[in-house]
Amino acid sequence: MTSLHSDALVFFGATGDLAYKKIFPSLQAMVKRGHLNVPVVGVAKAGWSLDQLRARAKDSLEKHGGLDPAAFEKLIGLLRYVDGDYQDPATFAALRNRLKDAKRPAHYLAIPPVLFETVVQHLSDSNCGRGARVIVEKPFGHDLASAQELNRVLLSVFDEGDIFRIDHYLGKRAVNNVMAFRFANTFVESFWNRNFIESVEITMAEDFGVQGRGGFYDQTGTIRDVVQNHLFQVLCNLAMEPPVRSDSESLRDEKAKVLRAIPPVEEKNLVRGQFLGYLQENGVAKDSQTETFAALKLEVNSWRWKDVPFYIRAGKSLPTTCTEIVAKFHKPPTVIPDSELVENHLRLRLSPEITIAMGMMNLSPNAEGMALQTGEMVATHSPRADEMDAYERVLGAAMAGDSTLFAREDYVEEAWRIVEPVLKKNTPVYQYAPNTWGPDEVARVTPPGGWSNPNEKKAFAVASEAA
Ligand code: BG6
Repeated sequence: MTSLHSDALVFFGATGDLAYKKIFPSLQAMVKRGHLNVPVVGVAKAGWSLDQLRARAKDSLEKHGGLDPAAFEKLIGLLRYVDGDYQDPATFAALRNRLKDAKRPAHYLAIPPVLFETVVQHLSDSNCGRGARVIVEKPFGHDLASAQELNRVLLSVFDEGDIFRIDHYLGKRAVNNVMAFRFANTFVESFWNRNFIESVEITMAEDFGVQGRGGFYDQTGTIRDVVQNHLFQVLCNLAMEPPVRSDSESLRDEKAKVLRAIPPVEEKNLVRGQFLGYLQENGVAKDSQTETFAALKLEVNSWRWKDVPFYIRAGKSLPTTCTEIVAKFHKPPTVIPDSELVENHLRLRLSPEITIAMGMMNLSPNAEGMALQTGEMVATHSPRADEMDAYERVLGAAMAGDSTLFAREDYVEEAWRIVEPVLKKNTPVYQYAPNTWGPDEVARVTPPGGWSNPNEKKAFAVASEAA
């Protein structure tokens, strides 16, 4: 049953922001690639007609990614609309009607989580839930208890195998490329462990603020917005053991195991920051203590990683937009003075382009004797113009019933277990100036040798752009 492709896509919240920014562009791209050829039913309570939804789709595409006339025409032909209150059984009766004899619809809940229970219950009562899949957006709750409650609601109607929890980082090629790099190259395994690696750091920097999402962001903060989900997924790809089979569950088992090996973050291993000017954003409380920056240190107590600290740093209004991993190697047991051995690392950049770089010491060509210089050997590739967007990839996977790119129930709950205690402690929030690398206090949570700031790389580089 699970492998049957969904024969209809329903998206709740059809007139909302997520549909406007992400869903319509993904749907058009799927149509263009020939991956979407089933009815697409938008549901919302807006008093709209189908023509108004079509106009909204057009506007969305013009603003986000561009309108492709042929694909758009086709998408418009697939689009249906049900207008109604989510509390009203008549809305779901109308939806059942629109779904005709669809046997495997996928219901995408692009709506606030407070509405999930109501919608899920009505889907079940109206028979729209029978044989169906459900797709939900992050955040999955705001702490462990609410995530468990959310899971209870979803599991009361759907099987775990039919629940698709979107974390769009799992739809990014660059994030999956971390696994390809580790598991498709024999040499990596020889150094990818505590014997060779001294520390691992992950930086997700964004050079913009909250972009009009103050209301949402102030309830969320950096840890809930990107650390507990996106960056933990990246961490799992770095720290997991090779799965023993290629099915989705073998992979997701290994990821959940990584999280199980991580103790809750301690207060001393977290620094939270807030950029100056945040309090003036619309929707933000005047005395808000929400973080727009976080740096934390984690332990992964597995055979492979025991005593290797993993650092995560993420923030808004930083000097650049870039997501990058730097793993530093132990220093070699050489006669060369320690102070001269500054660079031996592996750098994996996930965005804006994909880069794999080895940072190393070598003799300086500009000096006699044993003077050393640092440099990187770089392989990089820029995203292709026609590359699938992460949302397109995950939507397609959910409709195909492939769980690989989604967060499983146990994974989500483990992730909350790690961050929840420190989130509840109201640790101090230090201010930082926009366009800097966070508050000065971040010095307290810093990898050996300091954080590696993207775009501040050393002199020489041997670069190769993959074909
Ligand atoms: C979202 C967060 O999930 O991810 C945003 O809510 C963040 O705050 C975004 O900016 C980053 O995604 P991407 O794909 O641009 O790295």
